[in-house]
Amino acid sequence: MENKVIKAAMLGLGTVGTGVYKVLKLQKEEMEAKIGARVELKKILVRNLQKAAQKVDDPSVLTNDVQEILDDPEIEIVIEVMGGIQPALSYMLEALNAGKSVVTANKDVVASEGKKLLEAAKANGRDFLYEASVAGGIPIVRPMKQCLAGNHITEVVGIFNGTTNFILTKMSKEGMEFEEALQLAQDLGYAESDPTSDIEGLDAGRKVAILASAAFNSRVVFENVYTEGIARITAKDIQYAKEMGCEIKLLGMARLTAEGIEARVHPMLINKDHPLASVQDSYNAVFVRGDAVQDTMFYGRGAGELPTASAVVGDVFDCVRNILADCCGRIGCTCYKDLPIRKISQIKSKYFVRMEVEDRPGVLASVTAVFGNNSVSIAQFIQKEKKGELAEIVVITEKVQERHFMDAIRILEGMSIIREISSLIRVYG
Ligand SMILES: NC(=O)c1ccc[n+]([C@@H]2O[C@H](COP(=O)([O-])OP(=O)(O)OC[C@H]3O[C@@H](n4cnc5c(N)ncnc54)[C@H](OP(=O)(O)O)[C@@H]3O)[C@@H](O)[C@H]2O)c1
Repeated sequence: MENKVIKAAMLGLGTVGTGVYKVLKLQKEEMEAKIGARVELKKILVRNLQKAAQKVDDPSVLTNDVQEILDDPEIEIVIEVMGGIQPALSYMLEALNAGKSVVTANKDVVASEGKKLLEAAKANGRDFLYEASVAGGIPIVRPMKQCLAGNHITEVVGIFNGTTNFILTKMSKEGMEFEEALQLAQDLGYAESDPTSDIEGLDAGRKVAILASAAFNSRVVFENVYTEGIARITAKDIQYAKEMGCEIKLLGMARLTAEGIEARVHPMLINKDHPLASVQDSYNAVFVRGDAVQDTMFYGRGAGELPTASAVVGDVFDCVRNILADCCGRIGCTCYKDLPIRKISQIKSKYFVRMEVEDRPGVLASVTAVFGNNSVSIAQFIQKEKKGELAEIVVITEKVQERHFMDAIRILEGMSIIREISSLIRVYG
């Protein structure tokens, strides 16, 4: 049998790049039998040749000149794992336009510029695959575009960020406050020194944009996704949520409604019976609801060297199979609709509100009246601690349009009997 070799190049040799290098090595013996050819990494683009030399068996594969890759007709697949929007976007477009298939783990680029890249792939009859850009090692982009294609997907909701899920787990299980749990996540290497993108929900927001586009066949970009982080969640919120049979999770959610697509990331109370409520530590999970399949859940490692490399290498193998079968670009852009995206102010949610009020007669009636006057129905009113002249109350609302709810909150904030609105957290459902 002829020994078939497909030459590939990689842009970047950091966490994911090193993982891809290792996984390709682990697959070396079986690769040809499995996919019909052996993948050879002919070149790897790095910034610092000396630093990278320690990570590879043969340093002659390293280069800091991207043109050695883009101009090399032998290289059929480019694996982009350098991150950031530029120059990654330009390099990928150039690679596609040079007739190479491209695999990326880069959620920042796919969430904003995915359409451009998919169009370039189509124009050139090549593959542009990005499984690793959402939830690391968990297969979800391909299932959405292929295995679940026989469905009308109505909801995709998930835990898309391991750092924030680790922090919330520590707050829930060990009663830690946010700052302490964040510090622990940083000490253990789960959180970056600048954790803004994770903590503020931006990282999860990019994944929601990518999955919403695949789920609803209509383009959603990161800028369409409402994001809110977990920095204001307290151990007390979590304790109260538990007393009500719920956990608090940072959920990314994409929903299809009659009025358009909802795409958002924010903390939510979620009932302990829901499978997402029991996703602990740095694990990720994605829950998908379709009209035929009903409910499915995908669970696993959403980041890390080898789990992310698992998804990247899976894509590379798909590219190889398509090259061998001469059918590249078989599954490209699936956004054939142009659905409106709903603003957060239009979305209906249930709310958990924790506030400190003056502890005297008539106060609860005043709070109830403000909610009632703004079309907010109350599902539960719970009196919690008393602190001297103050009482802490928790209100759970029925589903209400965010705009009406926020009108009520603004009025409450201006009332002298309300000392503090301590927490506003949406409730999943
Ligand atoms: N880490 C994860 O668990 C994970 C999970 C899912 C997706 N991703 C995505 O995967 C991508 C890579 O992430 P990572 O964690 O592996 O990042 P990383 O550790 O920072 O690695 C990036 C690599 O790319 C190189 N690089 C960056 N800009 C370059 C340039 N202009 N020219 C040449 N080389 C350049 C860096 O070189 P220097 O070291 O010399 O700067 C480094 O080797 C990102 O898009 C990320 O969002 C990561």
